[in-house]
Amino acid sequence: MVWSLRALPELSDTEFQQWSKLLEDRTGIQVAPHQRAFLQTQIASRMRELDCADYRDYLSQVIDGLQGIVEWSVLVDRLVVKETSFFRHRPSIEYVRRLVQSRIDNQSLSGSFDIWSVGCATGEEPYTLAMVTNDCFELGALEPYFGVTATDISLPSLQKARLGLYPARRAELATQQERARYFTAAGNNLQVVDKIRDRVCFTHGNVLEISKMPAVPMDVIFCQNLLIYFRRWRRREILNLLVERLKPNGVLVVGLGEITDWNHPKLKRVGGDEIQAYMRIATGNAGG
Ligand SMILES: C[S@@+](CC[C@H](N)C(=O)[O-])C[C@H]1O[C@@H](n2cnc3c(N)ncnc32)[C@H](O)[C@@H]1O
Repeated sequence: MVWSLRALPELSDTEFQQWSKLLEDRTGIQVAPHQRAFLQTQIASRMRELDCADYRDYLSQVIDGLQGIVEWSVLVDRLVVKETSFFRHRPSIEYVRRLVQSRIDNQSLSGSFDIWSVGCATGEEPYTLAMVTNDCFELGALEPYFGVTATDISLPSLQKARLGLYPARRAELATQQERARYFTAAGNNLQVVDKIRDRVCFTHGNVLEISKMPAVPMDVIFCQNLLIYFRRWRRREILNLLVERLKPNGVLVVGLGEITDWNHPKLKRVGGDEIQAYMRIATGNAGG
């Protein structure tokens, strides 16, 4: 029998703990005991590709030296949940639209309108944010003076994101008009149009290392379906750091219920119950 077809042994308790710890230390993702089979399957499938039969040997390959950095970047993509879609949480997206529109209506845009999609996966979320922002700028006959920074820990996801090419089902939540405005057909796929792709900059970034990420102050920080995989103390720690990246009156939009026991003296809750969004109170302007 060819080695690659042979089943690998079960992860022992110690090995499971070692691998879980590595994943959590490096990404923040907490592996629950019931996810043991998933972890094992993903690691084993990569080991088969490398003809490696021993979890300890493979752990060394992931940890050691420059080669370890490369191998980790392959493995981490297999271990993270990448589920996403265009217009995934419509109420949050429409809140951003209303925010941009109100800044345009009040003529309170100062410089570029800057958005950050944290944990952007394969790009559907940041492109969606660019689409609704573009709607508002076009409606106001304004130059598209806005940008979306999109960061993720997974390099393969970022590569796909940059192409902007998706199976049509990823855009099922877009309206017909949105599909017509922002995609062109490419065989069975949909291609995001260039004027939207040009607005989004994809960059590798680990949310555990926010201090190493671009320090541009943001009008909107959008962070959904990422922190749910983290321990509560870590969610709070990361959110506290993200607050410091907001412009005055900037807004942090997280997934509904993503954090329940957190508030921050510089923030006020905005946008109603359907979303979880917080505006940074501008000094001397508690009304935002
Ligand atoms: C479930 S997807 C969410 C995508 C998008 N935000 C959405 O809501 O549709 C979670 C993403 O977070 C990324 N991720 C996980 N841990 C991360 C970390 N420590 N730093 C940055 N991104 C991370 C994963 O690679 C994955 O692409």
